[in-house]
Amino acid sequence: MSIFPSDTPGSDPLEVLNAWYEDARGRGESMPDAMTLATATLDGRPSARIVLFKGIQRGALFFVTNYQSRKAVELEHNPRAALVMHFASSQRQVRVEGSVERASAAESDAYFASRPRASQLSAWASAQSRPVASRDELLQQSQALDERFAGAVVPRPEFWGGYLVFPESVELWLGRPDRLHDRFVYRRAAAGDGWSIERLAP
Ligand SMILES: Cc1cc2nc3c(=O)[nH]c(=O)nc-3n(C[C@H](O)[C@H](O)[C@H](O)COP(=O)(O)O)c2cc1C
Repeated sequence: MSIFPSDTPGSDPLEVLNAWYEDARGRGESMPDAMTLATATLDGRPSARIVLFKGIQRGALFFVTNYQSRKAVELEHNPRAALVMHFASSQRQVRVEGSVERASAAESDAYFASRPRASQLSAWASAQSRPVASRDELLQQSQALDERFAGAVVPRPEFWGGYLVFPESVELWLGRPDRLHDRFVYRRAAAGDGWSIERLAP
């Protein structure tokens, strides 16, 4: 049973998310693509960090990272995540919760190929989340990789790629006067592609 208050921002929360993101970019928002990603270990210990929103693919939010990082290890064991985006310039917040899958190799390859060469080398050079002796060590690794791939296309490392967060719920929050804010939570309908929508007290 779908509840659809007439004053919701729209019937498809991912379309609204994209529209809000583009609106924030248009307003010159600082880093509208920065989103907080929360993961948890199987025994329920949460951790959170910022990753960059790389768009919607296959109905999911796409981000890229190192597959051996702490977040990736947590996601391999417990493939669920929460994401938060905040667009301060428009007083809007988006909260997403859902299941997580690795992007396909082709999806990760396509994104990796679009990155500047220096960023591609950094993906190779960084054993993300593991101890590193010094900044010099990182720079030397990057330099050595630059020489290794001189004159060649830098291939995507197997340990680096995308994840897709498939939303099961999305909350759209709009700042309003006197802290009487608007909150709409969208939940995937049990059958089909639709969403049920409920207004929550702020
Ligand atoms: C603005 C900003 C953007 C970031 N974007 C990414 C990103 O897209 N992917 C990523 O793996 N880490 C990104 N990071 C670094 C992460 O916040 C984090 O330090 C790193 O991924 C390691 O996290 P982990 O040890 O929990 O796996 C970003 C950090 C900041 C501050």
